[in-house]
Amino acid sequence: MDPNFPTPPLDDYLYWESKYQSGETGWDRGAPSPALIEVIRLLPPPKRVLVPGCGTGNDVRYLASLKIEAVGIDFAPSAIETAKKKAHSPFEKYILGDIFSLPQQFHGSFDLIWEHTCFCAIPPSKRPNYVQSMYNMLRSDGLFLGIFFLDTESSDEPPPYCFTLSEIDRHFDPYFQLEAEWLPSFCYPGREGEEIVRLYKKLS
Ligand SMILES: C[S@@+](CC[C@H](N)C(=O)[O-])C[C@H]1O[C@@H](n2cnc3c(N)ncnc32)[C@H](O)[C@@H]1O
Repeated sequence: MDPNFPTPPLDDYLYWESKYQSGETGWDRGAPSPALIEVIRLLPPPKRVLVPGCGTGNDVRYLASLKIEAVGIDFAPSAIETAKKKAHSPFEKYILGDIFSLPQQFHGSFDLIWEHTCFCAIPPSKRPNYVQSMYNMLRSDGLFLGIFFLDTESSDEPPPYCFTLSEIDRHFDPYFQLEAEWLPSFCYPGREGEEIVRLYKKLS
């Protein structure tokens, strides 16, 4: 790690807010994840989906367009403001908040969680909290669907924070059963071969 570029405090909303305010949002492709489009039609239709770290709501809007109640959470005010401005469906909901302190009324209330570039955006020390928080939000037998980067090389300037699949296993295995994993047929241009989709079921 270059000492001139200390790790930014990624658990501080001000870091992310500054990125949205300055327009340094290279992760935001302005369109839903192609892998989400591919897989959502193959699953039993969920009634209610949580999208943690939803950014400007590309995936939430897509789910809502399928008449699925989709709740996006992000702690960057500018991201949520943009998401709300772009919203056009009553199925689309946004909450300005921290995924590590979600409201009690959300507990056990989601059929599905869609993870897309949130896990790699949080500090590694918070991964256990992330998995616990997602577990708490799902109803019994709820599904966790995520697209994860396969790149295991560490970066001098996260995000994204890198991880290995066995690192994911270590965190998810006590709480979730891996139902399936596959390389997506569709992805954003430039991410070919870089991602894997994993489908987990909540353990009781
Ligand atoms: C790399 S961006 C991805 C955004 C979106 N998923 C996308 O693909 O466009 C990560 C997002 O996670 C949000 N985030 C990071 N930590 C968070 C936390 N603890 N609670 C809520 N949002 C968080 C950031 O504000 C940012 O919008």
